[in-house]
Amino acid sequence: MNLPFPRLTAEQAAALVDHNSTIGFSGFTPAGAAKAIPTALAARARAEHAAGHPFQVGVVTGASTGESLDGELARAEAISWRTPYQSNKHLRAAINAGKTRFFDMHLSTLPQQVRYGFLGKFHWAIVEACEVTPDGKIVPTTSVGATPTFCRVADRILVELNRAHPATLRGIHDIFEPLDPPYRQPIPLNSCSMRIGAPYIQVDPAKIAGIVETDLPDETGKFDPADDITTTIGNHVAEFLAAELKAGRIPREFLPLQSGVGNIANAVLAAIGSHPDIPPFEMFSEVIQDSVIELIRSGKCKFATGTSLTVSAPVLADIYRDLEFFKTRLMLRPQEITNHPELVRRLGIITVNTALEVDLSGNVNSTHVMGSSMMNGIGGSGDFTRNGYISIFTCPSFAKGGKISTIVPLVSHTDHSEHSVQVVVTEQGVADLRGRTPHERANLIVDRCAHPDFREELRGYFEQTKHGQTPATLAAAFAMHQQFLETGDMNNVDWSRYFKK
Ligand code: COA
Repeated sequence: MNLPFPRLTAEQAAALVDHNSTIGFSGFTPAGAAKAIPTALAARARAEHAAGHPFQVGVVTGASTGESLDGELARAEAISWRTPYQSNKHLRAAINAGKTRFFDMHLSTLPQQVRYGFLGKFHWAIVEACEVTPDGKIVPTTSVGATPTFCRVADRILVELNRAHPATLRGIHDIFEPLDPPYRQPIPLNSCSMRIGAPYIQVDPAKIAGIVETDLPDETGKFDPADDITTTIGNHVAEFLAAELKAGRIPREFLPLQSGVGNIANAVLAAIGSHPDIPPFEMFSEVIQDSVIELIRSGKCKFATGTSLTVSAPVLADIYRDLEFFKTRLMLRPQEITNHPELVRRLGIITVNTALEVDLSGNVNSTHVMGSSMMNGIGGSGDFTRNGYISIFTCPSFAKGGKISTIVPLVSHTDHSEHSVQVVVTEQGVADLRGRTPHERANLIVDRCAHPDFREELRGYFEQTKHGQTPATLAAAFAMHQQFLETGDMNNVDWSRYFKK
């Protein structure tokens, strides 16, 4: 099709962007992320820096992205500020060194905060598409994220038309953007598979500054094969849900599942998928991973909706070979919809996310190592946890070869409070915290979830703190963390230093 937009090289596109611009890039995980233009922007930044000129941009995306975006721009020291989430080691280092300003956001709230103007002016939207039409219809590729909003608010749009994705993807997306208050209406979504929007993003064609043609594949990495720990965690979650179903606390037809990202999430889904007592179910999630595609193939997952198709290259090729089959079973929506608190609450989503550490009350830290170093960000975990039908957190009971207990007296940073976290699962077992007092929770978490090497130590803390509604002693609450910072090991804290006889 002849398009009335300038054809640009990635370098020509990058040359249009000024220092200090704010850019909304497509991408939610590496899926659907712009790749050619950010790489060219990084090269431009290096050249400008070498010539003694400043060149940095504000980078906003759906969530994390791939090497060509966060990786290249971070290595080129080209990111002045970044939100809402990242998972790139170079960017993480720049953030923790204080070189890149980063603020962590609930992913459902990003698009509206962009529209409200809370994040300032957006100069550019740089988005990947599998199709663009002369009248400004943009069909995204493997993610939607916040791209519709970036296209709406940005002064100008650059499109990476990526031939690695077939134009026949059109139809897998459902683009719906709510109006802003005071005009917002209820979102008319009553089931996972319901279509409420358009199969494309409509933009003013006059805003499209150019098209860069590419054929770059998504940069999604491989998942580690499930190991004993992730498999055991997965089995515990599946057994717990099967028991809830049997007890009638989950309806007979089951409820849609949300599952976080990574190896534990894959193992959890595999275990739920193979559990004989759990009927075929639907997914209402943020990210759709390889395991979901296997479950769709086997018939165990009837329908999956998310904001990104974060699958490995062979799995994506499989989907594209059989696209008509998958288009009736998969739908990609904006993150504002997939993570919407009201929908999560109303549709009764069962949520499963991963913690870095959990404390004796059930507060969860998903983001910060030892209270100060950013790992990735809260992502969608808060959107789902706070509103889930049952909110589950998983993690191994230990980290760093047993030097760290992930069950601690008090989390070193709080992302999800005890009021939102209902069930904690480690490879040791399941602590069902519903209807439990803080003292009961502490006992359950230590008995069922803590690693045996740390159980006595944890009891040494909370058995000293029996007074009050919650077992806490401020002077000792971070003793395990403090000892790790001093010695590299949380084991065998000497509580007598903190509790006077
Ligand atoms: N203290 C210090 N370090 C810890 C730790 C703790 N309590 N627990 C884990 N770690 C370390 C691990 O050792 C590992 O370090 P390494 O990379 O040097 O080996 C690292 O943290 C990651 O741990 P891992 O077990 O591989 O975790 P993961 O890949 O399953 O990710 C989160 C866990 C929490 C970082 C990840 O799930 C996340 O970013 N969550 C927030 C966003 C989210 O939930 N998104 C989905 C919602 S839809």
